[in-house]
Amino acid sequence: MLPAIIEKLQIQNFRNLESEIIPFGPNINCIFGENGNGKTNILEAVYFLIKRKSFRKNASFPQILGIDGENPEILFSSLFKNTADEKPITYSGKLSSDGSSWHRNGSSTNRKLDIGVLFINPFESHGFHTSASFRRSWIDDQLGQIDQDYKKSLGRYNKSLRFRNKLLSTKPPQFQKQIDAIDKELGPLSLMLTNKRLEFLEDIKPFVKKAFHELFSEEHDLTITLDTKINPQRLESYYELAEKNRPKDEVLGHTHYGIHKDDYVLLFDGLNSYDYCSLGQQKMSYLSLLFAYIELFRYKFNSFPIVLLDDVSGELDKFRWSRLVEYIKNKNFQVLITTANDNFKKQLDEIEGANKIQVTSGMIKVL
Ligand SMILES: Nc1ncnc2c1ncn2[C@@H]1O[C@H](COP(=O)(O)OP(=O)(O)OP(=O)(O)O)[C@@H](O)[C@H]1O
Ligand SMILES: [Mg+2]
Repeated sequence: MLPAIIEKLQIQNFRNLESEIIPFGPNINCIFGENGNGKTNILEAVYFLIKRKSFRKNASFPQILGIDGENPEILFSSLFKNTADEKPITYSGKLSSDGSSWHRNGSSTNRKLDIGVLFINPFESHGFHTSASFRRSWIDDQLGQIDQDYKKSLGRYNKSLRFRNKLLSTKPPQFQKQIDAIDKELGPLSLMLTNKRLEFLEDIKPFVKKAFHELFSEEHDLTITLDTKINPQRLESYYELAEKNRPKDEVLGHTHYGIHKDDYVLLFDGLNSYDYCSLGQQKMSYLSLLFAYIELFRYKFNSFPIVLLDDVSGELDKFRWSRLVEYIKNKNFQVLITTANDNFKKQLDEIEGANKIQVTSGMIKVL
């Protein structure tokens, strides 16, 4: 993973943003603007540049293409800096309905940027607390970002699972031999992925506890655990599970057990945070998990990801937001923070040395 920050971004035809150069500072970048003016769109553009996908759902090419643009193309042009050797990295891309092409330091490339990025929207605390599939995909995305083997193996698992489900959905179910062969592949993959998930949780746990204390000075205990039916030590037990569940799978027409059904539980003083915590406490717990991930990232790569912190307002009280701002001020990572909240804006405005940007109808003004 490259230790890097983004210094400049210019985009054409991306949502409502005007094609002006947006400059970023090395640490705190505040993005102000009223609702619906383009703050989140800036974060989305940075995220898209790095990941080649959006953090928003339903964000395929037609949705992100500016509706007023004359050319049906989105152009990205950016400047990053490798913070280890101070060397600049230019990165540009062109997206159209036919696909995309990318250039790094002037040469054509298919490879994505190996720069870490983390999108944080405190409102997603609700999704995290209420939806197991949200939790799974959050962990899969973040773990996949720091562990390429995990990402590749999960891709293989999902592909085989889709094929297995397709075979199971034929009525009456046939292809027993093919399903047996798929299970032989899913077994070792399931064990490997479960072990990686458990390792990830063991790695992140101390940071979760610490982030919660540091961020919110709470004396409560916060941790995260995995809820799985897979025994990560015994391959045989996977095959037993597969055999036992085959009749039900055939009736249902899909695979109803396995690591794609695993879940994660945030424990607040040993109790499930969803059942037990207030909305503010849920938000603190969720934010602590994300900030713990930032620390874990640094521990692994000796550099921070670029942090995109969207819509900081609501539910947390003034004291807790102040703690969050203090925490961010004391860390040395690049963060883009957006807010439409006047009180929070005042607080951010006081940060000396921060880069401040105002967005009005997609137009950027550096303050
Ligand atoms: N493809 C598109 N082309 C042009 N404008 C778009 C496109 N997609 C979305 N928009 C516009 O972008 C604006 C939303 O921008 P964004 O989500 O960045 O707002 P925001 O400043 O983050 O607002 P909030 O404070 O409410 O979160 C909306 O006005 C929307 O109409
Ligand atoms: Mg927004």
